[in-house]
Amino acid sequence: MNKLLSALPLVALLIAGSAFYLANSNNQLEAAIAISNNLSFFDWATCYTHLPQIADNCTNSDGYNTAAGRFANLTNSLSPNIIVPCKNFTNFFLNATADQAVNFNNYFTNCFFNDEVISIAKSNECFYNNYFAPIYLNCTQTALKSLFKNTKDDEGVTFSQLGACQYNITSQPQQPCQSTDAYWAAAGQFNALTYPDSANLTAACSNYYDYRGHAFGDSLINQYGYYHDCFLTQQIQDIAKSNDCFNTYYYQPIYVKCAGF
Ligand SMILES: *[C@@H]1O[C@H](CO)[C@@H](O)[C@H](O)[C@H]1NC(C)=O
Ligand SMILES: *[C@@H]1O[C@H](CO)[C@@H](O)[C@H](O)[C@H]1NC(C)=O
Ligand SMILES: *[C@@H]1O[C@H](CO)[C@@H](O)[C@H](O)[C@H]1NC(C)=O
Ligand SMILES: *[C@@H]1O[C@H](CO)[C@@H](O)[C@H](O)[C@H]1NC(C)=O
Ligand SMILES: *[C@@H]1O[C@H](CO)[C@@H](O)[C@H](O)[C@H]1NC(C)=O
Ligand SMILES: *[C@@H]1O[C@H](CO)[C@@H](O)[C@H](O)[C@H]1NC(C)=O
Ligand SMILES: *[C@@H]1O[C@H](CO)[C@@H](O)[C@H](O)[C@H]1NC(C)=O
Ligand SMILES: *[C@@H]1O[C@H](CO)[C@@H](O)[C@H](O)[C@H]1NC(C)=O
Repeated sequence: MNKLLSALPLVALLIAGSAFYLANSNNQLEAAIAISNNLSFFDWATCYTHLPQIADNCTNSDGYNTAAGRFANLTNSLSPNIIVPCKNFTNFFLNATADQAVNFNNYFTNCFFNDEVISIAKSNECFYNNYFAPIYLNCTQTALKSLFKNTKDDEGVTFSQLGACQYNITSQPQQPCQSTDAYWAAAGQFNALTYPDSANLTAACSNYYDYRGHAFGDSLINQYGYYHDCFLTQQIQDIAKSNDCFNTYYYQPIYVKCAGF
């Protein structure tokens, strides 16, 4: 199994998936997609080896090949430019057995869902839709889909549930009103306080991201009230309500309903 798995980057380059595109979604959402502790390399491989073949006009395009090259440059174990989170992942992966958890120590999410790698993945629609999203997003969420419930359990929503729900929403086509200036003005104020890289990130959100960084797919998102205090304060709700479209199609479904509030 190790040999088979270690051939992944090459094998995976030859395979494909169907089309869905997280256009204009904020990287934070994808980073929030937590992978269940129970997803093993075997489960993951079972999914990605059954993806459909990518069309020639996609794999032969310059855009696809440029994106694939840049992606491999940062993530492939054979690349001299591999980034530290991916080095950690490949060190683990090359020696892992099929029954081990894909996202052990969050190595997988830290490697493939950091902003640098996601921005390369998104730099070409064909690469994203047919390669990156099916393998790294869809196939790692497979185990979650069956678990997903839109209502919270007694204890609350887990990162896996939140991720599956947010992903389901952000992979749908956007509303026309989601490209207006008024929408982006509200989104900008929201992101300024809640986006992990923001200079004006609130202390509550900073606590939330610190917690999330060490959490597992099965951990509760609102442990210690961190999620609530980051995303559901009066100030944040007022910002969301300042634009109906932002509130209705983005904030309420993704940050309130998915989180079980
Ligand atoms: C995601 O993966 C599941 C399970 O392999 C598959 O049934 C589904 O069609 C995939 N969805 C997309 C959009 O690729
Ligand atoms: C995940 O694994 C744990 C421990 O093996 C088990 O108790 C739990 O039910 C599993 N969860 C799912 C959703 O399979
Ligand atoms: C490839 O060809 C199909 C069918 O002709 C077309 O729908 C698709 O947009 C093309 N993709 C690219 C990347 O050119
Ligand atoms: C690979 O990464 C290095 C270091 O970041 C960079 O200088 C180089 O241009 C990259 N090459 C490609 C093909 O992306
Ligand atoms: C990742 O790798 C670096 C460099 O090898 C190491 O210092 C660091 O402790 C590793 N991180 C984890 C979480 O293992
Ligand atoms: C692989 O795992 C074995 C057993 O845990 C360990 O002895 C060995 O040092 C590991 N190899 C690498 C390259 O990490
Ligand atoms: C995903 O969203 C669609 C459309 O909103 C909904 O019908 C479907 O039940 C959702 N699936 C899950 C697993 O949440
Ligand atoms: C951060 O806050 C400062 C002071 O209130 C403000 O000038 C700046 O524009 C804010 N930055 C963002 C990205 O909102």
